[in-house]
Parts: sequence; C-alpha cells; structure tokens
Amino acid sequence: MTTTIYSVDEARRRARRLLPKVVFDFIEGGADDELTTKANRRAFDRILFRPLTGVDVGEPDLRTTVLDTELSFPVLLAPCGGLSMFHPDGQAGAARAAASAHTIAVVGTLSGSLLEKGMSDGGGAPHWFQLYKLGGRAGAERLVDRASEAGYRTLVVSVDTPVVGHKERDIRNGGVRPGGTPAIDRVDLASMIRFAPKVAAHPRWVYRFARAGFPLGQPNVDMLQSDGSPISLEKATEAWMSSPATWADFEWIRSRWSGRVVAKGILSGDDARRAVGAGADAVIISNHGGRQLDAAPATINVLQDVVEAVGTTTEVLLDSGIRRGSDVARALALGARAVLIGRPYLYGLAVGGERGVRIVLDILRDELTRTLQLLGRQSVAELDRSSVLASGESAQRGCDNAQGSLGP
Ligand SMILES: Cc1cc2nc3c(=O)[nH]c(=O)nc-3n(C[C@H](O)[C@H](O)[C@H](O)COP(=O)(O)O)c2cc1C
Repeated sequence: MTTTIYSVDEARRRARRLLPKVVFDFIEGGADDELTTKANRRAFDRILFRPLTGVDVGEPDLRTTVLDTELSFPVLLAPCGGLSMFHPDGQAGAARAAASAHTIAVVGTLSGSLLEKGMSDGGGAPHWFQLYKLGGRAGAERLVDRASEAGYRTLVVSVDTPVVGHKERDIRNGGVRPGGTPAIDRVDLASMIRFAPKVAAHPRWVYRFARAGFPLGQPNVDMLQSDGSPISLEKATEAWMSSPATWADFEWIRSRWSGRVVAKGILSGDDARRAVGAGADAVIISNHGGRQLDAAPATINVLQDVVEAVGTTTEVLLDSGIRRGSDVARALALGARAVLIGRPYLYGLAVGGERGVRIVLDILRDELTRTLQLLGRQSVAELDRSSVLASGESAQRGCDNAQGSLGP
C-alpha cells in the first residue's frame, strides 16, 4: 500500500478493487432500497458553512473530551461486525490504530475477535465495548461480565436492532441466510465450492485470508453459555431476536455494570430522553449507516431535536454518513460532542490493515484542520450554529448535488 490514499472515497475505491464483491457489499450495503444510506450523505451536503474570513487561526486545536476521556480529535471508530474478514489485523488492528491516533475504538460483540483481544491488543487506549443481547439476557450478562473483567469501562448498548436489517446485496451475493446470519461461518468443501468462483478474481485478499486461517467465526458467541458449552451463532441470534434490548434492560445493565453506559441508535429527542431516563450517560444518534430501518431519517437532520432534548446534561454523539473532516465540523457545529465512523475505517482496514485505518483517521484529521482554518475557527470548541447557514438559507444557496434528500 502506498500513501497516495488522499480521501475516504479513494480508500473506498481501493477496497472495492481488492475485496471480493460479496465482502465489499457486506461493508457497503444498506437495508432494502438503501434510501437512508444515501440520505445520510445528501443531508451533510445540504449544510453549508458561514466562514469568518481574514482570520489567521494558525494550527487549530482539535482536542476534546468524551465522557471525561481526552481525545486528540473528535472522531471515534464505530462498532462493526466481521472485521477479520476484511483484513487479518481485524478488530485489534483497528483498536491499535485508534489508540495511536489518541482516540477510542468501540469494539463490537460481532467484531470477529474475542472481546478481550480488543482491549489487550488494542494499544492500551480506553476502548469501549458494544453489546448485543446475543444469547438473550443470560448471554448478554456473560458478555457484560467479561467486558468488565477485560478492562472496558464504557458499554455501548445498540437499541436499534430488534431484528437484523434486510440487506438485499448480501442475499443476492449468497452471503447471508434468512434472518441475517452469515451463510458461511466455517470453511468446508461445500462452502469452498460455492464461494470459490466469487473470490477467485481477488488473489491478494484470498492469500491474506487463507494465511490468517479463514477467520470467519464469532468467538464471542462461542463463550456465551455459563456452563461453557458451545452455542451456534444461529441459536444465539434467535435468543437475541426473541428478546431484543429494551429500556427495561438498562436497569439490569446499570446494576451489573459499574462504568458508563451509552445508548446507540437514537433518532429522536423523545428516545434520547427515554435513554437518559433509563440511565444512559451519553447517546449516539445513529441509523446504523442505513443498515436497519430504511427511510429512517438522516442522522444530521435529527441532531438538533436530540440536542434540544438532552444536550444540556448529556453528551450527544453521532454517526452515519461521515466521509469528510468537513462533515465532522458540520456535526459539531450543530451540537454533537464527537462523531463515529463505520465504513470509512473499514475501507482503510481492508486496504492496509492497522496502517490503513490510521491513514483514514489522519485524512479526516487533516480535513478537519483545514476546514477550521478556512472557517476562521481556532478550535473545535468554537464550532457552533453560527458556523453554518440555517437550513432555509442553505437550501436557497445550495449546491446542485445536494438536491432531493430525505428529511427536513
Ligand atoms: C459492516 C458493518 C457492520 C456493522 N456492525 C455493527 C455492529 O455489529 N453493531 C453496531 O452497533 N453497529 C454496527 N454497524 C453500524 C456502525 O456501528 C455505524 O453505526 C455505521 O457504520 C455508521 O455509518 P457509516 O458506515 O456511514 O459511517 C456496522 C456497520 C457496518 C458498515
């Protein structure tokens, strides 16, 4: 890999060339018609800046704190599934890249690595753990206890997945079974015969994947039963879907977990209030990158509602659709404390493992720096509503490529 990756979109192009379609589409896909995935981007494009010109801001200060942890800049890595399939560095590589950039990775239950590895091999940063109720309440209790023992101090509970979103690319590619579990979770003769034609044109990925020993499994699932007996991903998912995470779960989670709890998947002020009422220390506005409810609103369009509802007492984070440092600036200007990225760092991981993730983080950092310089703002703390045009004004003076988006 050379360092000529100059934007998230360039990382995406390279990931697309390198990965078999079935793998790239797993990263890229949204639910159903992918309306929300597209709307996330368009909504950012509609927000125009109001620069202060003639100001020399020097090197702007990007530092912030999130739940009392100091970050070098306000971008975290969102929890994602299946990282070992994209590159053998997997979750630990992404966590190390986050640590070296002085930020946080949220390690997913379904990351493809043991949750302990995200912490022990993650570069020594205070990473967070994301919880799904895999294996039902009993399974989730084990995950919570193990996350605590592993040293995580912040738990992210995803509340937007009562069922797995219907991603038609995965179905077309033969990558999932009905219900959303992977069509292959181990490599055997049958799966080799079925998938060999789909991956043959991507020898670099095949070589890497084979050398790593075909890491397809979900090791956190293997350890869900308290008696240590194995449970299949299908069974664990069935138990999760039959009692998905609700606000009532926050009660037992709060009593079992001594650290901070964050609710991920909030899309309205009302739900943000509910989350805080149930004990959440922070909320993440997220539509899962458009992978769950299609035609859910673009996250940047609900930010103001959520900030008005809980923003004076609770930190509000946002993900879904961030592709540029200028998007980070837009979200901060409208009241987000920090943002998370999903696909952007997965592209980087696919292309160059840990180093690729670091490159993507550095690109976003440089873009955010330049945006602040061009805006005449000396620090991320100076970003506020006066940094962007009001939505009516933005629409009036808008760019052509921003037309036709969903939401207000
Ligand atoms: C391949 C992939 C897998 C994901 N897996 C999870 C997951 O296991 N848990 C979760 O809470 N969110 C998951 N997400 C959603 C991300 O945490 C995040 O909300 C989303 O990617 C943000 O949108 P973006 O990709 O446009 O940045 C996943 C996203 C992708 C792209």
